[in-house]
Amino acid sequence: MSNIVIIGTQWGDEGKGKIVDHLAEFADIVVRFQGGNNAGHTMVISGRKFISHLVPSGILQGKQCYLGNGMVIDPAVLIEETEKLDKNGIDVSPEKLKISEKAHIIMPYHKMIDKAREEINGDKKIGTTGRGIGPCYEDKATRRGIRFIDLIDPDVFKEKVNAIIDEKNFYLKSFLKSETTDLRQMMDEYTGYAKRLAPHAVNLSVAMRQAIDAGKKILFEGAQGTHLDIDHGTYPYVTSSNTVAGNACNGAGVGPRDIHGVVGIVKAYTTRVGAGPFPTELFDEIGNRIQEKGAEFGATTGRRRRCGWLDTVLLRNAGRLNSPTGHVITKLDVLGGLEFLKICTHYEFQGKNIDEVPASLTALAQCKPVYETFPGWPEEISHIRKYKDLPKNTKNYLKRIEELTNVPIQMISVGSGREETIVIKNPFK
Ligand code: IMP
Repeated sequence: MSNIVIIGTQWGDEGKGKIVDHLAEFADIVVRFQGGNNAGHTMVISGRKFISHLVPSGILQGKQCYLGNGMVIDPAVLIEETEKLDKNGIDVSPEKLKISEKAHIIMPYHKMIDKAREEINGDKKIGTTGRGIGPCYEDKATRRGIRFIDLIDPDVFKEKVNAIIDEKNFYLKSFLKSETTDLRQMMDEYTGYAKRLAPHAVNLSVAMRQAIDAGKKILFEGAQGTHLDIDHGTYPYVTSSNTVAGNACNGAGVGPRDIHGVVGIVKAYTTRVGAGPFPTELFDEIGNRIQEKGAEFGATTGRRRRCGWLDTVLLRNAGRLNSPTGHVITKLDVLGGLEFLKICTHYEFQGKNIDEVPASLTALAQCKPVYETFPGWPEEISHIRKYKDLPKNTKNYLKRIEELTNVPIQMISVGSGREETIVIKNPFK
């Protein structure tokens, strides 16, 4: 398969970063197509940990990387990341790392609005990452956003900022009771960012067409997860972009026929960070144990992730929405040592079993997970590299996931290291 999309099937943090890193070896190009620095994954460079929020991890393998038009980009964060990578000898030159001219730029007022809104919403807050993601997409939708191409044209940039700044400051001060944006400081800072980043600008759709015509293999990297999708997720407890596979086309400027495979990343249990419904959430010792063993803390905000049993109602929903050609199971090692495991097969709602995630949050709150229980496995599995060598109970757990989702498992991650991976079928081959 030439071009594949990688997406998360749950609420994000499925471990996509490691799998993208692994599969980037077989691709020529890696493109991120949505989201911004609300995402985060850990890369290890010469034994040192580095958390990337914007730059695709394919950069470590010298792959051509693109930040797609579907993204929202905080230029300060991008510059900081590229400087760190550069210091570590990674090529982040404008030839290697390109930014779509049509990507939207996160401005200081977006971040201020995001944080101030969360504050005034009190216990009704979404639990956003506070990075200005929602307010930036909001301006994109109302046609008042600043695109990368606008940022790097000083006259256009000035005109666009002048047209909006009074309204933003009025809203910040009078409604949100927040500090306002210092116009001069912002202009100075962003003019500097524009100069630094201008050489990276690209017409992404043209670049994609040329690459496809030249027979290059492209990996489209999604951020967050299917149930954080603005249309299909547990709205309003979602992010502000489309996280499903179809958005790889929009967010990178290619047509559906240019996508040949979709890999859904499935964490072996479920986690969620921030507020919102979570039917299989565990509030007991087992939940704490998974949280600790899985080091379930957000890579962006450091928040403790909520943990629960694997929910195949979510996975089948993700199947309908993304049409995955294969699944990758991650963090399977974290479940080792538990006496028993549960998989949610259905929800019970008003006395009936249902197989969908209700759109109404009131209905979803009433859904009770229906479980099947499996014996656990005491064995360590991180050293295992072949499916056949996994303990019998681990294989039973995996087999049941395949049956309940009707999607073949192509890879299994049994530890955080790149080599701690079992490949059943390489999605690119
Ligand atoms: P926002 O994307 O910062 O607006 O946050 C909206 C919701 O999405 C919050 O519940 C966040 O915790 C969640 N979220 C955003 N990005 C990620 C991610 O990369 N992983 C997991 N959750 C995320």
